[in-house]
Amino acid sequence: MNSPLPLLRLRGLAKGYAASPVFGSVDLDVAAGEFVAIVGESGVGKSTLLNCIAGLDNIDSGTVHIDGAAMSALPESEQALLRRRLLGFVFQAFHVLPYLSVARNVALPLLLLGRDEPGRVEQLLGAVGLQGLGPRMPQTLSGGELQRVAIARAMVHSPKLILADEPTGNLDPKTAQRVLETFREQVHIAAAACVLVTHSPAAAAHADRVLVLDANGLRPRV
Ligand SMILES: Nc1ncnc2c1ncn2[C@@H]1O[C@H](COP(=O)(O)OP(=O)(O)O)[C@@H](O)[C@H]1O
Ligand SMILES: [Mg+2]
Repeated sequence: MNSPLPLLRLRGLAKGYAASPVFGSVDLDVAAGEFVAIVGESGVGKSTLLNCIAGLDNIDSGTVHIDGAAMSALPESEQALLRRRLLGFVFQAFHVLPYLSVARNVALPLLLLGRDEPGRVEQLLGAVGLQGLGPRMPQTLSGGELQRVAIARAMVHSPKLILADEPTGNLDPKTAQRVLETFREQVHIAAAACVLVTHSPAAAAHADRVLVLDANGLRPRV
């Protein structure tokens, strides 16, 4: 959808659990072609923020616009369709499905969109250094390999917006570098946007812009 709005716009986003606030008022614009990193202490709400953007958790107030659509105002079922079409989410806990092979896990977003793209799954597995592992079952993989399955799955359908939660936390520096370059390529070549949550300065260094999350909201890192 063409729209004067940036690919992602957050205004006054606030979220708490029971009586305890997590973050107060988050404003953020991420343009198409922009790679933003969000850093912050453990427990400050980085994962919660990504979940709120994706509509996987409820917000208390504020708005989320994705590619011009008022995500936060949509009913649950339409949020799910928008997520499927526009988003690639790398979960901190991977959420690789244990009863599907690596290749079928990675192919899942294409299947859900009814897209048949021969060679695409192998291409993504190659990009994250897992070439040839398609037939393997997840329980035979290491933590770092599982994390890369999750990354390949998040990118296979060329999403407009990549939300990645500590996506290199289980990777060695060389593999992490390779994965972050794959994100950058998707962002810059396909004019997607990426919000990367990390506590790794090395990972944040790949971003165009680094922001810090604390209880008051997001601010530029100085
Ligand atoms: N489902 C939940 N119920 C209650 N508290 C939660 C829930 N999820 C996260 N929290 C709390 O919200 C805060 C932010 O958590 P999280 O977003 O996971 O932080 P981060 O990703 O920055 O480490 C933490 O204090 C955490 O304990
Ligand atoms: Mg987290």
